Amino acid sequence: MTRIIAIANQKGGVGKTTTSINLSAALAHLKRNVLLVDMDPQGNAGRGLGIDISLLEHTVYDALMGTKNAKDVIQKTDIEGLSALPANLRLASLEASLYKEPVEEPFALLGKALEPVLGSYDYVIIDCPPSLGLLSINAMACANSVLIPVQCEYFAMEALAAILSSISNIQNQWNPKLRIEGFLLTMYDARTQLGTEIASEVRRLFKENTFLVSIPRNQSVSESQARQMPVTSFRPTSQGAVAYFSLAREVIDHEEK
Ligand SMILES: Nc1ncnc2c1ncn2[C@@H]1O[C@H](COP(=O)(O)OP(=O)(O)OP(=O)(O)O)[C@@H](O)[C@H]1O
Ligand SMILES: [Mg+2]
Repeated sequence: MTRIIAIANQKGGVGKTTTSINLSAALAHLKRNVLLVDMDPQGNAGRGLGIDISLLEHTVYDALMGTKNAKDVIQKTDIEGLSALPANLRLASLEASLYKEPVEEPFALLGKALEPVLGSYDYVIIDCPPSLGLLSINAMACANSVLIPVQCEYFAMEALAAILSSISNIQNQWNPKLRIEGFLLTMYDARTQLGTEIASEVRRLFKENTFLVSIPRNQSVSESQARQMPVTSFRPTSQGAVAYFSLAREVIDHEEK
């Protein structure tokens, strides 16, 4: 069965897109068929896989609006088993388009768009934008679970209260089966006191829901983005890549449990 995982946190810059790209690539390296869906108008998930989003005539926007089938917008990537449904700035006009032409279930658009292609994938990973609006709700309304990256920085804990309340609203209104896949500590630096404090606070509060692996702050991870490829391909033995492979194995283990 296909597992749909939304990567969400309304806080900006916490590692959602980095995690979407590298978890997707690591799962594909582990022989899973994976679709990475970009729900952020910034378009960085597609870019990070080497897709020139400025040249795209059709994107996830068209699939959401129902003017294109998702299968006609999905692109193969250089990584075997990994495809992408990319976004660009056009996605920012979705809300305005729906205002002009209202639809019955504006929060079910992604679920409907993906339905016909789900059978081709073991995992669908959805990169959410840094807000809890229409785009993130669409992602969480069709997902089996939410993976929440937590940057080991000031105000990390405040952000978690908002995402948890949003998840419980979505469970109540649209998707009662939505689970928390886990909290993932990102850009972790064991040498800083703040980093270790936040990491232990998250582990204390969300014990069994926190991934065992933490993603270290690692230069190979940021460099790989400039090269528009996952770190798992760019430097497969770097600390960052090794951590993302461990994350992929934990995600696969969750499914087997
Ligand atoms: N493990 C890491 N090591 C080093 N740099 C990282 C790491 N993870 C993320 N970064 C860098 O931090 C920045 C923010 O990461 P990213 O874009 O993944 O966050 P985001 O949550 O998707 O941001 P936004 O909210 O804008 O969508 C990027 O420049 C990225 O390269
Ligand atoms: Mg992002």
